[in-house]
Amino acid sequence: MTAPLLSVRDLAVTFHLRGGLLRPTRHLKAVNGVSFDIAPGETLAVVGESGSGKSTMARAVMRLVEPSAGSIHLDGDDITALRGEPLRRIRPKLQMVFQDPYSSLDPSMIIADVVGEPLTVHGVATGADRDVRVQALLEQVGLGRYHMNRYPYEFSGGQRQRIAIARAIALQPKLLVLDEAVSALDVSTQNQILNLLEDLRRELGIAYLFISHDLGVVEHIADRVAVTYLGRIVEEGPTERIFAKPAHPYTEALLSAVPIPNPRVQRSRRRIVLPGDVPSPLAPPPGCPFHTRCPHVMDVCKTVMPAHTPMAGGGSAACYLHDPQATEDSRCAS
Ligand SMILES: Nc1ncnc2c1ncn2[C@@H]1O[C@H](COP(=O)(O)OP(=O)(O)O)[C@@H](O)[C@H]1O
Ligand code: SF4
Ligand SMILES: [Mg+2]
Repeated sequence: MTAPLLSVRDLAVTFHLRGGLLRPTRHLKAVNGVSFDIAPGETLAVVGESGSGKSTMARAVMRLVEPSAGSIHLDGDDITALRGEPLRRIRPKLQMVFQDPYSSLDPSMIIADVVGEPLTVHGVATGADRDVRVQALLEQVGLGRYHMNRYPYEFSGGQRQRIAIARAIALQPKLLVLDEAVSALDVSTQNQILNLLEDLRRELGIAYLFISHDLGVVEHIADRVAVTYLGRIVEEGPTERIFAKPAHPYTEALLSAVPIPNPRVQRSRRRIVLPGDVPSPLAPPPGCPFHTRCPHVMDVCKTVMPAHTPMAGGGSAACYLHDPQATEDSRCAS
């Protein structure tokens, strides 16, 4: 097995919400004991409802928020606590594309500067040399060189996301973190950007940490999928296995909401509507974080957190339904 490019172990991020007069500080565990690896050139999709900690996880990997526990290794280096100059030095390896193509590009800069800025900042190229590189980058993302002197407001949402991607790949990163990068786009533009990402991966060997609240979007781009709920990964595995044989009841519910192009398959599949809302991460339930909404909840689920059990077909799920010992115990108890 090749060594992982990114290795995240037991990552936790807690936000401390300052209370006012007579109100204590509250602690919000946005990410809670998350572990995963990404191999060079691999795409890991992280999928879960809004508020499940995906962006916080991405920001921790990018070293934009401080982890409160755990470790992050990139390309063999421990980057968990990097700051200042050492962080600046690894930045070229690790780039990010955000959701909103309307606010992530500086409106006062022409495209040549938006895309060329990282080249200048990291001392890679200036002047005419930089312009030549920017032209090549624009062409790589499917934009003509004649766009160089235009401003971000002159572009559509999809074009802006292409510009953000050109800027992100300018320094030839090994890992690109895409946080809901196609979520604001219409379906056909989404597909164009997903195809572009696939082409770039083939040409440049970049690995992606691809975050989306929509499981349907990731099927064709991801090698592996990790499903998050209340700051935890509840299931992960190869995309094919996750889509064909989801193991965790939460993954099953997410999958049941994904439209299938073939109407006969659609009709034979039951939509699982979960009761209630996601609990507040300020007061997560004890035991399995999903137990307040799970159609299969057992007594043990309400008190003890299930560990990840390896699944046939690859990956693992944190659910007692797949833990032979727990299901045996619950049968004995009933
Ligand atoms: N800077 C912050 N300060 C306090 N709470 C935050 C902050 N950022 C995110 N949160 C909280 O952390 C939880 C996870 O948020 P987030 O990582 O944005 O989830 P997602 O990207 O999956 O929607 C949410 O409850 C959110 O309100
Ligand atoms: S551990 Fe229990 S509550 Fe949690 S997902 Fe599995 S069956 Fe449902
Ligand atoms: Mg988010």
